[in-house]
Amino acid sequence: MRFTVAIDGPAAAGKGTISKAVAAHFGFAHLDTGLLYRATGRRVLEGEAPLDAARTLTAEDLQRDDLRTAAVAQAASKVAAIPEVRAALVDFQHAFAARMGGAVLDGRDIGTVICPDADVKLYVTANDAVRAERRFLELSGNGADVTREGVLADLRERDARDSERATAPLKPAEDAVVLDTSGMGIAAAVAAAIAEVERVRGPDPE
Ligand code: DC
Repeated sequence: MRFTVAIDGPAAAGKGTISKAVAAHFGFAHLDTGLLYRATGRRVLEGEAPLDAARTLTAEDLQRDDLRTAAVAQAASKVAAIPEVRAALVDFQHAFAARMGGAVLDGRDIGTVICPDADVKLYVTANDAVRAERRFLELSGNGADVTREGVLADLRERDARDSERATAPLKPAEDAVVLDTSGMGIAAAVAAAIAEVERVRGPDPE
């Protein structure tokens, strides 16, 4: 069975948490496509040319434990604005989406560009203040030396770049269901996403 769930939205809206939970609930595979851009951006920070990095990503690049820093996030957003970098990452994402057993992909352009025929499309968002607070707690919890103001400015800069680029900008697909998680806890947001998948797919067979 092929079944694709596309989950897009701005930084720190809860896409990752929701995607993992949906994948676990239905037994689908999950690809965080931001990791592809983060891994590319990290290699660029080390001096490599963006396109060379994107074309030669390895499994080890994706598994590094230093991809979640603010510096790598900004580098990812910058390489993601280069059309040739995006093109170099398409085949991997298409193959993942088409795997048997179902797949959840989360990112910025999954419902619009990578999987325009996805069975379910969610656009997960939340207001700036809520997203910045979540990211601040995550980064400071990991020991990073960050301030709330700095995290908010960083998110806004990244969202503006991701939304305003010419190729595959961040925006909801016309047929996406928008899930605003500003006033929601994790459990409610996950339940809403699972309910949407069930609505399309039918309840999980026992
Ligand atoms: O989801 P994330 O924060 O890990 O993504 C890091 C950056 O990668 C994000 O700022 C923009 C880029 N990105 C993208 O352009 N397209 C995607 N499908 C996923 C991420």
